[in-house]
Amino acid sequence: MPYKTGLRLTIVIMMWGLLFCLSSASASEFFDLPPLPPAEEYGNILINRTSTKNGVKPATFSHWQHRIKYTCRVCHSELEFNMKVNTTEITEFANRKGKYCGACHNGKTAFRHNGNCDKCHNGDITYGKQKFDIFSKLPFARTSYGDGINWVESLKLGVISPAHYVKTKSQDLPFDKMLILDSEMNIIPPSIFPHKAHTAWLDCDSCHPDVFNIKKKTTKFFSMSYILKGQFCGVCHINVAFPMNDCKRCHPGIKE
Ligand code: HEC
Ligand code: HEC
Ligand code: HEC
Ligand code: HEC
Ligand code: HEC
Ligand code: HEC
Repeated sequence: MPYKTGLRLTIVIMMWGLLFCLSSASASEFFDLPPLPPAEEYGNILINRTSTKNGVKPATFSHWQHRIKYTCRVCHSELEFNMKVNTTEITEFANRKGKYCGACHNGKTAFRHNGNCDKCHNGDITYGKQKFDIFSKLPFARTSYGDGINWVESLKLGVISPAHYVKTKSQDLPFDKMLILDSEMNIIPPSIFPHKAHTAWLDCDSCHPDVFNIKKKTTKFFSMSYILKGQFCGVCHINVAFPMNDCKRCHPGIKE
């Protein structure tokens, strides 16, 4: 090994070594983690692709309020909402025809469109906050980050039983394989990827092939910097699923 490369590698290894002798809390300071909103706002969004342009306030949408009742696949596979705010062409016309929000907000499953404009078009990202208090007192498993709810445990314990579809059932076959994602630098405790915890909520097509292309073996391009920019695991683990601050949940080998 050329002297310079060797030296550089030694320095890098020393740096990471030092980092992981310290607590994961100090390791997290090494990364530029996005700031977290209060628990009751984690996963809340304001949809404003066309609203203010058309004289109404942005539509408020809360993930925790909806995922108690529905898995991700209902909205992100069956009803075809994209996993990026303001990219789906939701219109009031389509809503009233029973598409998008209107698949449920039809006066049967949930409140209807007519007469309830302000329940959605209120521009208030904290809307429904008072419900969080009631909800967070339920026997949910608690975590320290994001909305503070351990959704994996909540499903396992049967505290919630979200519906998997509104009209069409998923054709996906179960796939439970647990993967160990080794990093390029093998001194970093690897990240785990449990398929089971994901397929409980998501269809294969939420990840394959766009986010993770198995054939191209994109894993070697994983790194925290890409993830923190919203790629790979960062598609979900920044905004909606437990956030990146929870190092140990992905890297069980990291010391507390
Ligand atoms: C009841 C419907 C519904 C459910 C259930 C749902 N979502 Fe969403 N999600 C939406 C809508 C609507 C948007 C915004 C789409 C748009 O504006 O184009 C969104 C956006 C997102 C975004 C992008 C957020 C941002 O700030 O850009 C992510 C990530 C996401 N969802 C992940 C999930 C995950 C993971 C689950 C399951 C745990 C889930 N969603 C469950 C409706 C839902
Ligand atoms: C269940 C939630 C919900 C309800 C109730 C609702 N809307 Fe909307 N509406 C939306 C969403 C989401 C969009 C897409 C917003 C965007 O992308 O900016 C939208 C879009 C719109 C737009 C933008 C232009 C267009 O035609 O798409 C207007 C105007 C609008 N709604 C008016 C209304 C009025 C008036 C009412 C009451 C009679 C109403 N909406 C009720 C969710 C709702
Ligand atoms: C898969 C079904 C489903 C879809 C799709 C859905 N919702 Fe809901 N939503 C519900 C249910 C069920 C409730 C709770 C029951 C109720 O309040 O009538 C709810 C509650 C809400 C609330 C809380 C109202 C309150 O007074 O606390 C808002 C706001 C809301 N939805 C907005 C939206 C918007 C905006 C969209 C589309 C972007 C959307 N929802 C799509 C099922 C859905
Ligand atoms: C939340 C995202 C996500 C979902 C949902 C998901 N996968 Fe994966 N899958 C991954 C990741 C990450 C990898 C590893 C990718 C890599 O190595 O490049 C992977 C790898 C795989 C592999 C290769 C396994 C190996 O040993 O290398 C197969 C096969 C696979 N997935 C099938 C499925 C099937 C079938 C479903 C639906 C039942 C599914 N996946 C759902 C993220 C997902
Ligand atoms: C949602 C899962 C997830 C969370 C949470 C997470 N990581 Fe990672 N991390 C990964 C994946 C996947 C990789 C790439 C494969 C590997 O190295 O195991 C990675 C790679 C790394 C690497 C290798 C070098 C690099 O930059 O890619 C380090 C160091 C690291 N993570 C530290 C942390 C720390 C510290 C935290 C908490 C602040 C954290 N991770 C939180 C999934 C996660
Ligand atoms: C398409 C969305 C999505 C993507 C992409 C994704 N996840 Fe997840 N992940 C979830 C959801 C939803 C859960 C359920 C827990 C929650 O919502 O907080 C989850 C749960 C997990 C769990 C289970 C934790 C436990 O307590 O059992 C681990 C570990 C995890 N994810 C790691 C990863 C890693 C590593 C990657 C990237 C290789 C990744 N995830 C990519 C959505 C996603």
